Amino acid sequence: MSLPSQISFSKKRTWSHDLPISFLMQQGVENPGVLSLAAGLVDQGSLPVDSTRKALEALFADPKTGREALQYGTTAGSLALRTLLLSHLSNLEQKSADELGITVDNIIVTTGSQQFLSLAGEVLLDPGDICLVAAPTYFVFLGVLQGLGARIISVETDEFGMRMDALESTLEMLESQGELAKVKMIYLVSDYENPSGLSLSIDRRRQVVEIARKWSRMQRILILEDLAYRELCYDGPVAPSIRSFDPTGETVILTQTFSKSFSPGLRVGFGVASPEICAAIRDKKGNDDFGSTNLSQHILARVLDDKLYYEHVEQLRSVYREKRDCMLDAADACFSDIPGVHWVHPNGGLYVWMTLPESIETGFQSPLFQRAVHEDKVMYVPGELFYAFDQGISAEEQPAIQKNHMRLTFGVQNPEGIREGMKRLSNAVKSLS
Ligand SMILES: Cc1ncc(COP(=O)(O)O)c(C=O)c1O
Repeated sequence: MSLPSQISFSKKRTWSHDLPISFLMQQGVENPGVLSLAAGLVDQGSLPVDSTRKALEALFADPKTGREALQYGTTAGSLALRTLLLSHLSNLEQKSADELGITVDNIIVTTGSQQFLSLAGEVLLDPGDICLVAAPTYFVFLGVLQGLGARIISVETDEFGMRMDALESTLEMLESQGELAKVKMIYLVSDYENPSGLSLSIDRRRQVVEIARKWSRMQRILILEDLAYRELCYDGPVAPSIRSFDPTGETVILTQTFSKSFSPGLRVGFGVASPEICAAIRDKKGNDDFGSTNLSQHILARVLDDKLYYEHVEQLRSVYREKRDCMLDAADACFSDIPGVHWVHPNGGLYVWMTLPESIETGFQSPLFQRAVHEDKVMYVPGELFYAFDQGISAEEQPAIQKNHMRLTFGVQNPEGIREGMKRLSNAVKSLS
């Protein structure tokens, strides 16, 4: 008997698309010898092998703790880890857990912060609901929003992050169009945004909470604050989060990760939210996996408790500071004589955002990308991937998706690779200038 020819996929399936990152990885594989300034991996050499080994040895020295770590955990995550996360957060914010209005019950441990972002989207957004985002912003979350059928509206940014006047005028416009009731969320990467490396100024962190509250007339507008790069700060202390300006925790949901500051292989992240939102996320997570990898959580709890984590973060900051400086020096040396080229000097994170003259497009099919990969043997991430497409308006009405930027990362290459990569890239750009 022959099977019916078509598989009837769900609507959600049709809204999810292959991420451009798969194409980038394929390019890397198909073009050996290409130096990647694109890959979003962390520095290989500084991954915490010693600290992790010590934590594992301590964990397995006692069969009882070893067995606990090898057993299933709970949906919300290890209580020991969540207790340590409370002091970790109050350390970062320089405020007590009481002042922050957070208890262990407000914390959910997830498989990276990506899972938390995805769960938050799932429990809060119906198809057609609106999420406001910065332009540009983290493209994987744009993919999550698209996959949920949400409408994504970009808000302009400047050197201090999302512009609050632009946010207010977007909300005014949506109100005049009768769409305010659909606005559910504002997504912000407050520290060292992926891709721009820019941070939201402290004033704006306070203001955005006020704006979200002021416009929460039809339903609550929540801020989803993604602090993935928070601890990778190279020029000053860790900044207070948007969440720290919302002591009742009614408006801001925060998520952080240990992927960048410790190890993405362990893939431990967490989120902080109000009791109602935590309950919704726990219920959804219960259906998805009823708890993230318990062993990873036990390792993280050990390294936090034994302070191995904090020593590691200090070392990591100096490794990345040097690599960031190396990329900026190489940019000065190789690009400063090309007219119309400029770039952001990030104070943290992993990325340098470079702008080319408008006449030089950077997309996968552009002459620049083709030339860079096939002739100069260097790869970057095209900036246009970080701009949202608003499904609520026609293709012609889309606010300009900028096509002349590149995201460069100093995460993976060593200083020599960074210098060589920047030289190769400048050759490609010069060939088109
Ligand atoms: C801005 C941002 N948020 C979240 C994540 C997710 O990281 P993870 O799931 O490993 O915590 C990333 C990863 O690159 C990121 O760049």
